[in-house]
This record gives sequence, structure tokens and C-alpha cells, in this order.
Amino acid sequence: MNLYNEIIAKLFSSVHSIDEKDVYSLIEFPPKEDQGDRAIACFRWAKEKKKSPQDLAKDFASQLQKLPLPKEITKIEAQGGYVNFFFNDELLAQKVLTSVFQNPDTFEKVSMSSPLRVVIEFSSPNIAKPFSIGHLRSTNLGACLSRIYAFMGYEVTRINHLGDWGTQFGKLITAYRRWGNAQMLDENPILSLFTLYVRFHDEEKNDPTLTTEAREAFSQLEKGDESAKELWDWFRNLTMKELDSIYTRLGVEFDHLWGESFYIDQLPSLLTTLEKKGISEISEGATIVNLKKENMSVAVLQKGDESSLYITRDLAAAIYRYKEFDFYKMLYVVGSEQSLHFQQLFKILSMAGYSFYDRCNHVAFGQITFGSEKMSTRKGNVVFLQDVLARAEEKALSIIKEKNPTLENAVDISKDVALGAILFADISAKRIKNVKFAWDDILSFEGETGPYLQYSYVRTKSLLKKHDQPISLPNDFSIYKEREEKKLIRTLSQFIFSLEKVVAENEPFYLGQYLISVTKDFNRFYQSVRILDAPENTLCARMLLVFATSCVLQTGLQLLGIPAPEKM
Ligand code: ARG
Repeated sequence: MNLYNEIIAKLFSSVHSIDEKDVYSLIEFPPKEDQGDRAIACFRWAKEKKKSPQDLAKDFASQLQKLPLPKEITKIEAQGGYVNFFFNDELLAQKVLTSVFQNPDTFEKVSMSSPLRVVIEFSSPNIAKPFSIGHLRSTNLGACLSRIYAFMGYEVTRINHLGDWGTQFGKLITAYRRWGNAQMLDENPILSLFTLYVRFHDEEKNDPTLTTEAREAFSQLEKGDESAKELWDWFRNLTMKELDSIYTRLGVEFDHLWGESFYIDQLPSLLTTLEKKGISEISEGATIVNLKKENMSVAVLQKGDESSLYITRDLAAAIYRYKEFDFYKMLYVVGSEQSLHFQQLFKILSMAGYSFYDRCNHVAFGQITFGSEKMSTRKGNVVFLQDVLARAEEKALSIIKEKNPTLENAVDISKDVALGAILFADISAKRIKNVKFAWDDILSFEGETGPYLQYSYVRTKSLLKKHDQPISLPNDFSIYKEREEKKLIRTLSQFIFSLEKVVAENEPFYLGQYLISVTKDFNRFYQSVRILDAPENTLCARMLLVFATSCVLQTGLQLLGIPAPEKM
């Protein structure tokens, strides 16, 4: 909880009959300085109070003005449909800068007396298939959310729901038995497996025996047949090795690697339970849940040949995880094309009386597309993450060589910049929107990009190095008189607030935007006031601002998984 927001919530709830907690969640930070430091919009009450938002804002403001104001707040004003709150600059500076100075990594780090458990399922690529750009989005969004929830005091459990079970393994086993060999798999595991898979689909069109064979192979696998199981294990291990290198590169870890196969032992009892509860029925030999009344298509839980399905394994997974973790929230970070699947999943849970269904959220996202420049798609119309990374690194290196030809470790740094560019681009819009990757835009050192954030962080580091004196707090916080100083302090003070917004909407975008505003305000400050050549007293005070900016950027970048190089 943010002290200033708490004060505002308390004040506002004394003039309006709504709960402090509810007010707290309505507080916004206004876009312009002359709109104050925080605002509350009155549009939402216009109907119920039968007044225009403008009049409501005026009423609230005039009532608030009559109250004895705490020292932190200097002015309250109505503007349009908003009530705006103005802070005492000096106290704000003191509070923010002291907290960063005392806890450079964590600031006013939030802790919960009994932390709430949040289960976050993300990444979840498929065995024997390439790690696609869609999986990159899930991995990045999920990892950002995990770090941010943990920073905000939640107990986070990270699960990778690997796609390691299903009829596709019957196809793969069949394809391998027909056309594969160990050598090709050792040389290039995922690509070879994927090529086999694509070939299966090509040849299946003219050879129906493949379909039957694959179905049998999956059924063997589900029944525990040794030879099928051995191949499956091998494919899985090969894929895991490649996946591990991707996760290391992205700096991502999981608490549990529980793929779909993890739940298969739990399926028979799940099916019995659903049948007993009268949720499922048999139709043409298959077990289904009829969701017509819910305006959804039928969900098939088990096929006639007794093989299980994606949704069946998801039902088992949800129930298992709830038993295991008794979570406060569970997030599924998965593309929006699976929305119907999650609606069906949550609906069946609710029909079956699992009241935790409403703690489950599908954190959906749109697609990444590649602007004018087409990425090589090798086969099967899939963009491979490795290709994207390689391309970004190549471009980043050429930009760095041009900007800073004498830079040491240019290759390593270009890797950081490339990763920063991609990861930031991914959260540069609200997640549900499609993101377009245009290389020149995302790698630019100016504009709203990862490299821009990294570059500004490098600038703070180099100032701190040049200054080469211990940082200290000023005796008098009224020393910050310049408009750019005040603006920067005000923005720095909103760090935790931006994280609260991330948590409220599961939207890392807010942290990205916040860091961009810190960077913009810092660069304006840097360009308009003297720093290193300022008189002693001002020098120390301004270096404290540089230090605070550096800390906020470092922690912010770390939460986004974006490397923060010291030089660039
Ligand atoms: N493996 C799936 C895919 O790549 C995503 C899994 C999403 N998670 C889930 N619980 N269904 O499409």
C-alpha cells in the first residue's frame, strides 16, 4: 500500500460513502503536471447521483477543501470530471528519496503479513515442436508477472504446463518409426522432430493408414506400452535440453515442470467424479460435457478409444493445483486463440462445484507479427525464437559498432540490447493487442524501446562513476526547486503504484510505460540542469536524483527481465 494513496483514500471516503479500499483502487495518476499528483474520476457515479461528473467533482472538491488537510497534501481541486490532489513537494522528495537511499533495491518493498499464493502458469511449449514467438510472449509475460507479484509480497508458484501428451505423440512416434533415425535426432533434435511431424501431416493426406497407426501408437502410449514410452521419453528429454538453453538465455525459471503427462494418472478418477455428478454424458461412445446451455460448443473429455484430451488434462491440472496450493489466484498466460478453451474449462469446474473456478484467470494475449520484413519461416509457417534472437543480435551489434566503435565486449552487450529490445517490444502495448515487430523501431536507442531504457540506465551509471563520491541525503529537501527536478521526483514516487496496476490487471505494460516516463523525465532533467558542474550543495542533491533514477531503472528492468548493461 502506498502511503499517499492511503491518505487520499481515507480523505475521499469521508466525503463519499464508499469504502476506503474501493477508493484506493480508483486512484489514478494524472498525465499532466497541472492536474496534480493523483486524481479520482467521478464519471462512474454520475448516473447514480443524477449529476454531471463535472458537478460531482466540484461538490467533492469543495467538501474536501473544508477538511483539515494532512501535511502531505497542499491542494485539492476539481478539473473536468476529476478531483485532483496536489502533494507537498518537499515532503514528497523527502519520502521518496529517503526510501530509495535506505533501500536501493527494494524501496518501500511491500510485504504481506500472510502472503497470498498466486499460481502462474506460463510458457508451456510443446514437446517436439519449435518454441514459437507465441511461447515467447507467454514466457515473457508470465515471467514478468511472477517477478512483480513476488516483489509485491505474494507467494508465487511458477508452473510450466508442457505440452507433452496428446494424439500428436502418436503421430510423432509413427513418423519416427517410418522415417526417422537416431542420428538426425542427435544432430538437431527439435528441428528433426518438427520435420517428421510436418511430413506426417503431408503424407497423411494420401495415406490413411498413417492415421490409424498414429491413433494406435497414442493409445499404446496411454496404456503404458514400453516401446512407445521409450520413444516418448527420448523426444521429451531432447526437447527439454533445448528448452533449458532458451530459459537460461531469457533468465526464466520454474518451480514445477508439470506437463500434461503429469496428470494422466488422475484422469480415471476425474472422469468418474464428473460422471457421478451428472456433468458428463456418453455420446457416440465418447465422454462429453454438453455446454449448449452455456452457449458453448461441446467439450469432449474422452474419445471412443479411451484416449484423453487437452481439456481433460487441464481439468485434472486445475483441481490438482488447487489441492496442492490452495491458491488465491491462478493465472494462465496463454494466447487469446485459446479463449474458448478456458471458458469451457472454468465453466466445467464451476458446474462440478469447484468453487475455486472464479480464482482462475485466463491472461490472454494477441499475436506478434513481423512488420514489412518477413522472418524466415522454414517449415510449417512457424517463426522460431532462435531465428528472431539471432536477427536481433546481428542488428544490435551493427548499431552499437556504429554508435560506439571502441566499446569493449560489444558482442555480449549487443546480446543484452537485442534481448532488451525484444522483451520490451513484447510489453509495449496492452497484452491483448497484436504487436508488430519492426526491427528498426524496437532497436532504436530513442523512442519507447528497451534499448532506450538501457541507454538511460547506462547514463545514470556513468554519471555516478564520474561523480565518484558517496551519495548522501540533503539536510533540506526544499533544495529541489527546478521544474525538471520536481517532475522527476514525482514520477519516481509512482513506482510501487505502477506495480499495483500491473497486479490489478495482470498487465506488465504498465511497468514498461512507467519506466519510459522515468527515463523521459530523467533525460529532460539531465539536459536542462547542470549536474556534475553544479555548486557543491546542488551537486549532491542532484546526484541523489541520479542515484534514485538509477535504482528505479535497475529494479524495473530486472522485474521485466531486461538486462541492464553498465556500458553501451
Ligand atoms: N501447450 C499449449 C500450446 O502451446 C499451451 C498450454 C496452455 N496451458 C493450458 N493449461 N492449457 O498451445
